[in-house]
Formats: sequence, structure tokens, C-alpha cells
Amino acid sequence: MEQKGIALWLTGLSGAGKTTIAYLVGQRLKNDHHVRVQVLDGDLLRKVFSKDLGFTREDRFRHIERAAFIAKLLIEHGVITIASFITPYQEMRDYCRKQIGSFAEIYIKCPLSECIERDVKGLYKKALKGKIPYFTGISDPYEEPVNPDLVIETATESPDESAERVIHFLGRKGYIQ
Ligand code: PPS
Ligand code: MG
Repeated sequence: MEQKGIALWLTGLSGAGKTTIAYLVGQRLKNDHHVRVQVLDGDLLRKVFSKDLGFTREDRFRHIERAAFIAKLLIEHGVITIASFITPYQEMRDYCRKQIGSFAEIYIKCPLSECIERDVKGLYKKALKGKIPYFTGISDPYEEPVNPDLVIETATESPDESAERVIHFLGRKGYIQ
């Protein structure tokens, strides 16, 4: 069977678990389902192809436009693309869906209070002191998805369970056996 590509667009706050889930799902798809898969992670891509961009609304839009362009190329080659970007505006996510076509909006949901508590990178601490302008959830908005294709609640489920639910979603939609 010819493999169909899709972009799984993981949106959520910093520290919600997007990157962890993206790589876990990627690994499982490769190892257990033998499909072509590529993770595109916001934090990483910003170090490579969006070095020129910051976190204003305009810059985030430019960054996401680039990411959506690459995701589209990949899915045209039948690659299951897992894109983990905060993507804080609904308009941005709607843009991605429209551009990419084969697309699922997956909300990696975690209360802001829990992300602040986790503070894996120490960014919330700085942002709360007013040291990071435009920090999502603190000094910049995060619009919750209006009608996501899947919601993953990382405060109440383990990364393994979350990854399993994403894989199950792909199975239900016929992208994997
Ligand atoms: S976006 O909004 O989709 O363009 O953001 P993204 O490309 O996913 O990049 C988010 C990562 O950048 C780090 N970082 C910030 N995030 C949000 N706001 C501000 N101001 C900011 N400054 C740096 C942070 O490590 C994000 O990574 P994650 O994985 O989300 O924690
Ligand atoms: Mg991350």
C-alpha cells in the first residue's frame, strides 16, 4: 500500500510536552510501523532556519509559514510529519491546515500552572520576572484550539500513553496499519 503523508501539528504551551511526544511518536512509527517519518520541532528549527526571527506575532507567523512549507513538501513524499510548534494563534493553525491539506491539529494540553511548575528550561522563571518579552502564556497570548482533531492531556497521562493515543488516531484515520 502506498504510504499517505499527513502533518500532525502539535500545538501547546512551552513545556506542555510537544517535543517529548513528537519524538516518542516518531520513534514508534519508525520502529513498529516502518513508515517514513520526520519530526519538525520549533525550538530546533529556530536554531537553523529561523535564526533571523523572534517571537512577535509577525515573526511567529513567518516562522510557521516556513515550517508549513517544509511540512507540505514532506507529506507530498508520503512522509508522516510531526510538527511541534507552539503555534499560539488559531489563525496560524487554520493557515497550516489550508496550506498543507492533509493535516491534524493536535492540542498538547497542559495547565499553565503545571508548565510553570515544570519549568524544564527555566524560561517561565525569567518570563515571570519580566525578563522575556513576548513569552507565551505570560506576556504573550496562547489561543486554545477551537476544534482540535485530538486533545492530549499531559498533566494526567504519561508520555507513553499520549504517544499511544496519537498512534491510535493515525490508525483510525487509515494512515498506518
Ligand atoms: S512559535 O510560537 O510556534 O513560533 O514557537 P516555536 O517555534 O514552537 O518556539 C518555541 C520555543 O522557543 C523557546 N522560546 C520561546 N517560546 C515562547 N515564547 C518566547 N518568547 C520564547 N523565547 C524562547 C522555547 O524554548 C520554546 O520551546 P518549547 O518546546 O515550546 O518549550
Ligand atoms: Mg519543545
